[in-house]
Amino acid sequence: MSLKIDVISTFPGIVETFAEMGIVGRAFKLGLAKLKVWNLRDFADDRFKHIDDDPYGGGPGMVIKPDPIFRTFDALEAMNSNEPRHVIFLTPQGKPFQQDDAERLSQQNHLVFLCGRYKGIDERVREALVDEEFSIGDYVLSGGELAAFVMIDAIVRLLPDATSDGDSVISDTFPFGLLDAPLYTRPAEYRGMQVPEILLSGNHAEIEKWRLEQRLERTRQRRKDLYKQYMRRLEDRENEQGQ
Ligand code: ADE
Repeated sequence: MSLKIDVISTFPGIVETFAEMGIVGRAFKLGLAKLKVWNLRDFADDRFKHIDDDPYGGGPGMVIKPDPIFRTFDALEAMNSNEPRHVIFLTPQGKPFQQDDAERLSQQNHLVFLCGRYKGIDERVREALVDEEFSIGDYVLSGGELAAFVMIDAIVRLLPDATSDGDSVISDTFPFGLLDAPLYTRPAEYRGMQVPEILLSGNHAEIEKWRLEQRLERTRQRRKDLYKQYMRRLEDRENEQGQ
């Protein structure tokens, strides 16, 4: 069964452009996932296609009105016979998106990404329609589209058959909680720079040992937080096995 993905946006072109490229583009072409992009402006209720209004209580910026969003959901539900879906809102106020979220969400049947613009959306949308809120980092983007696509990319590439080489997904940076080891390809010497001897040795056990050491060292140097987490997990596992 393929993963259904709906994106609700005021700039549908951004999402459609990204959806044609690379591994994710290939996954959509193969039908592993199906994308539908909804333009919020199609559900505006005035002839000027206004979807935003001033915030109650005053203050700067505009707020997306509830009606265009609720009416988009009515149309989406009618098209999907009210089947269950998981609705994600992209906002800097959401919880930080992580690899294990990508893994969990790649198991769902139907994801709906709601992208904000302007100052934000009416709170009643959050309360009535949204299941989960995610942020892709502690910075403010001008809209949720790029954030939605970051999530879609991380999710879709995990679908079975999305990558021609499934092993490369397994050995990725995060699944073991460590950063990846350095990578090299031909030629063995380039402008005086050598590929580490061990990688040319053909000794797979030694190569795997070297890679793990490199991953540990890289993670320790660059991401102390991940390194500590990894070590703690290792210790817990050893304690469990010792009991
Ligand atoms: N919308 C605006 N900024 C965002 C962020 N950092 N993450 C998710 N959605 C956003």
